[in-house]
Amino acid sequence: MRSFMGRDILSLKEFERQEFFRVFEIAKQLEPIARNRKNSDLLKEKTLVTAFYQPSTRTRLAHEAAMHRLGGHVTGFSDAKMTRAGDFYQESIKDTVKMLEFYGDVIVMRHFQQGAPHEAAKWASVPIINGGDGWGEHPTQILTDLYTVLQEKGRIDGLNWLAVGDMRMRTMHSLGYALSQFDCPITFIAPPDMGLTKEFKDELTQYSVNFSEAEHVEQAIAKADVILVEPVVQPDYTKSRDERGGKDVGMTPANYKITRELLATKAKSDAILLHSLPRMDEIPTDVDITRWSRYWQEAFNGVVMRMALLALVLGAVE
Ligand code: CP
Repeated sequence: MRSFMGRDILSLKEFERQEFFRVFEIAKQLEPIARNRKNSDLLKEKTLVTAFYQPSTRTRLAHEAAMHRLGGHVTGFSDAKMTRAGDFYQESIKDTVKMLEFYGDVIVMRHFQQGAPHEAAKWASVPIINGGDGWGEHPTQILTDLYTVLQEKGRIDGLNWLAVGDMRMRTMHSLGYALSQFDCPITFIAPPDMGLTKEFKDELTQYSVNFSEAEHVEQAIAKADVILVEPVVQPDYTKSRDERGGKDVGMTPANYKITRELLATKAKSDAILLHSLPRMDEIPTDVDITRWSRYWQEAFNGVVMRMALLALVLGAVE
């Protein structure tokens, strides 16, 4: 297994099966720190730089919380408009990260351009963590989701997945790549104009992912052990910011919606329901207190997963 020390976390395409389990093992070891709401001193000599060119609640703050839990320091920006990348100069990724690398020891970047963190990694002498790049990938979110499945179900192999939402989503890409390392058949359900691209389907086939497609959640929910939902009503992730303003947004059609009634009548009794959030109306709030929902556990695990990744890439654990 390759060492994580100094490594960029850009894509789950690059992840080997043993590496997933190593990350989950470290997450499990560090979890009590977060569970007991303590801070430790594992990364007390280290600083995280956050470079967020797109809005975020969870990804940025979970990385920051993780760094605090491990006794480290945090600096950075959550709005590129306040930097030279967002004003007259439109400062390049290269010039920006050639500065940021001196302000800390690891950089987590979210960007509206697919591949921006990869470009940053070409120039930075410190590890770059991809916090979501356009429609590209969101590796730390899917690592969080897989860790949540392992915690909740005790295994990953042998579970049937159902993924519902916009298949252009970066989470869906990272999920597809990740499942290539596990024995997990998956059914994808998306509106016709948001379906799997031919290019991505070819990649999934090349990576031997056992996938199928369906049109309505009612057709596929009964066999699912893990139901992962993303919005189909959502912003344009290729924009730095997409305001809803006064414009009307559609409601989620029934095909892509997980209701309490659907879960009670059609889902496996022990299936688990994941959503990386934020949500629109694809999971109504009355689902939150059902036994299927795991998105709040997912949120907690989001901090734990980032603790594990930071500890690994900064060499605090091997
Ligand atoms: N799940 C997720 O990426 O949330 P944020 O956009 O709030 O970071």
